[in-house]
Amino acid sequence: MFCLASVRYRINTGARPRLSAPSRSCRSRWPRRLQASVENLNQLVADTMTLRDMYKKHHWQVAGPTFYQLHLLYDKHFDEQSELVDSLAERIQSLGGVSIAMAHDVAETNVDSSASARPAASSGAAGAAAACTRDRAARSSFNGQAAAEAGDDGTNDLLVSDVIRTNEMQVWFVSEHLVDSPLL
Ligand SMILES: [Fe+2]
Repeated sequence: MFCLASVRYRINTGARPRLSAPSRSCRSRWPRRLQASVENLNQLVADTMTLRDMYKKHHWQVAGPTFYQLHLLYDKHFDEQSELVDSLAERIQSLGGVSIAMAHDVAETNVDSSASARPAASSGAAGAAAACTRDRAARSSFNGQAAAEAGDDGTNDLLVSDVIRTNEMQVWFVSEHLVDSPLL
C-alpha cells in the first residue's frame, strides 16, 4: 500500500509533489479510495494553509474598538490552523501520498480568493474570517463523508474530530464579534 520508493525519489530529486498517488507503478497497487482521500486531504491542506495565513494577516491588520481582543483571537486561531495543517499533511504521508507543502503548491491548488491582500477594518475582518472558516468546516464535512463512505475511517475521524470541530469553534468565537451590541 505504501510507496516509499516514489516518495524517496521526490525527496532526492526535489520533484514537486502531485495531488494523486506518487507514481504510476505505485498507483496500480494503491486502492482507489486512498487516492481519493489523498486528493481531498491535499485540497484541505491548501485551504487550511490559506485560512491559517488569513488569520495572521488579520492579526496584523485588524483595526477598530475591538482591536486587542481580535488581535489575540486571530493569533490563537492561526496556531490552531497550523496544527491542523500538520495533522492533515501527516495523514497524507501515512496513507502513502505526498503532501503539498510550499506556497506555490497552495497557489496552484487553492481556488479560494476570499483571503485577499487588502486591509480590513475590525467588523469586516471578523466577517471575512467567520465566513471563510465556516466554508472550511462545510468542505471538511463533505470530504469526511466521502472518506467514511470509502472506508477510510482514519481520515474521517481526523476531519470530524479535529478539522470540523476546530473550525466550528473558531466560527463561533469570531461570529460573536459581529453581534451588534454596545461597547459600554
Ligand atoms: Fe503577533
